[in-house]
This record gives sequence, C-alpha cells and structure tokens, in this order.
Amino acid sequence: MFKAYCKAKLPLIDEALQKAMTIEGEIAPTIFDSMRYSLFAGGKRLRPVLLLAAADAVGADGNKFLNVACGLEMIHTYSLIHDDLPAMDNDDYRRGKLTNHKVYGEGIAVLAGDSLLTYAFETMLSQEGVEPKTLLRVVKEIASAAGPEGMVGGQVIDMESEGKAVSLDTLQQMHRAKTGALFRAAVRAGAILGGASDEEVEALTVYAEKFGLAFQITDDILDVIGTAEAIGKPVGSDLKNNKSTYVTLHSVEIAQQMAKETVDDAIEALAMFGERGAVLKDLVEYLLKRES
Ligand code: IPE
Ligand code: IPE
Ligand code: MG
Ligand code: MG
Ligand code: MG
Repeated sequence: MFKAYCKAKLPLIDEALQKAMTIEGEIAPTIFDSMRYSLFAGGKRLRPVLLLAAADAVGADGNKFLNVACGLEMIHTYSLIHDDLPAMDNDDYRRGKLTNHKVYGEGIAVLAGDSLLTYAFETMLSQEGVEPKTLLRVVKEIASAAGPEGMVGGQVIDMESEGKAVSLDTLQQMHRAKTGALFRAAVRAGAILGGASDEEVEALTVYAEKFGLAFQITDDILDVIGTAEAIGKPVGSDLKNNKSTYVTLHSVEIAQQMAKETVDDAIEALAMFGERGAVLKDLVEYLLKRES
C-alpha cells in the first residue's frame, strides 16, 4: 500500500519540484545548479508524501497541495546542506552523492541553503486553490517548525550537546525540535489544508509526533548498523562527532525496542480514520524496516 502510494506520488512531487525550479532568466545559474543538485539527489521525499497522505486521510485530495509539499522538501534539503557543512557535521556524502559543499564549495553551499529556504516560502505562497487565511495558517506553522523554536533550535541543542552525556529528556527535546517539528508540520499542514476537523488535526498531530520520534530513533540506529551504500551518507557520523543518540544513551537493541513502541503509539492515534488511515499506518511501519 505504502509502496504503491509512493510510486504514484513521487513522480508528482518531482514534477512539481522541477516546475518550481524552472526559472526564466536566472541571474546566477550556479546557485540554481547547486540547489537542484541537492534537491534532485534522491531524497525519500517523506515530508511531502506525509503532507499528501494526511490530506487524503481526512478525505481531501492531497494532490491539490503540491506547492506546499514542495516547500517542505526545499526546507528539509536546505537543512541537510547546512547540516553537512564542515562547521556542523562535516560529512562528505549525502543521498549517495558528494555533499553540496564538496561539489560547489562552502560559500555556494551556504547560499544554496539560504536560497532553498527563501524559495520554499515563495513556492508555498504560490499555492492556488486554498483560502488565503488557511494558507497563511499553514505557512506560519511551517515557518515556526523550521525556525529557532523548531528545527534550527534542535540543531543548536544537537551542537551544544556534542561530547556531553545528555539526559533522555534533553535527547527527546532535541529530536522533537530537530526532526520532529518538520514532520509534525507536514502532517498538520496536510490535515488543515484538507479541511480536517479539530479532532482530526489533534489525532494526526499525535501520530506525527510519534512518527518524528520513531524516525529519528531509526536514523540513529542506521548511523550505527546501516551501510553507507544503503543510507547514502557515511555511517558512524554521530560517533565521529561525539553525538548523544538513542544508541549511545542506551543500546541498539533498546533503541529498536523504543522505535517499535513509538510506532505502535503512532498507529493507535490513527484509530478514528479507519481504512483512510491505512497509508499513514504503512508509512510509520516502514520506519522499522527502512534501510535508508
Ligand atoms: C535525514 O532525513 C535527516 C534527518 C532529519 C535525520 P531523511 O532520511 O528524510 O533524508 P532524505 O531526504 O531521504 O535524504
Ligand atoms: C540532522 O540530523 C537533522 C536536520 C535537521 C538536518 P542528523 O545530523 O542526524 O542528520 P543526518 O544523519 O546527517 O542525515
Ligand atoms: Mg547533524
Ligand atoms: Mg548530520
Ligand atoms: Mg543522523
């Protein structure tokens, strides 16, 4: 179900991204080249897929919100370009290819991130077929999720925790912000754009929070037991940088158990959606099996 869903949606997302990235009269082609390099490097597109699936789950047609979905992927890609920079995780490979700064240099990579972030808002605000008030609400949520109260804040906690033994509380707070916030915004955006009731938005928020947590636990596990070939980024990056992760705080086995329990909680939150929640259920279950 999830595979079939992704097979149907990924070409639509890619087509919309291509369209958004086709700009006439580029004044500085290098920046577009470097933005496209990372945007089309083979990301899993989980955030846009979640947005579409959440809209579908509340009975709308997610395909109508592709601009907002593309904006999320642009923000996510910017966060990865900066995350890989020498000043942060200093990684050479991402999505199976050299990292942006390895190809274009650090200066352009910083600017490619900046451009993807600003261009994301231009793209999202170009979304047609949505009440302006609803679009503003959704874009504001995405902005908060990406900013100092969300992803950026989480990245700061991550950097400040390097080399320190952090508590499970801090680790969870970091993950909620660094990774969870954008997943949460993706799901809530899909639900709100799709006209969900307050009750549906609440249930999907719980689902999304659990999804984000399970996602980051499995990211930490893959950093230890994955293969560079499959994950497309170096294994052992967290160890190299003295990061606290679910694995360093516990063990691979306990982290796997925690991921499983978190996935069960996410599925529980979908109860009210019945059959309509099937894709979201498959999506979160996939986290336990993922190799990349
Ligand atoms: C990786 O995210 C970075 C984290 C937030 C932990 P993804 O695993 O979704 O990366 P891509 O987009 O598929 O490359
Ligand atoms: C970074 O987390 C998440 C972002 C917000 C970019 P990681 O540093 O663990 O991501 P990977 O493992 O490099 O993809
Ligand atoms: Mg990092
Ligand atoms: Mg990293
Ligand atoms: Mg990681």
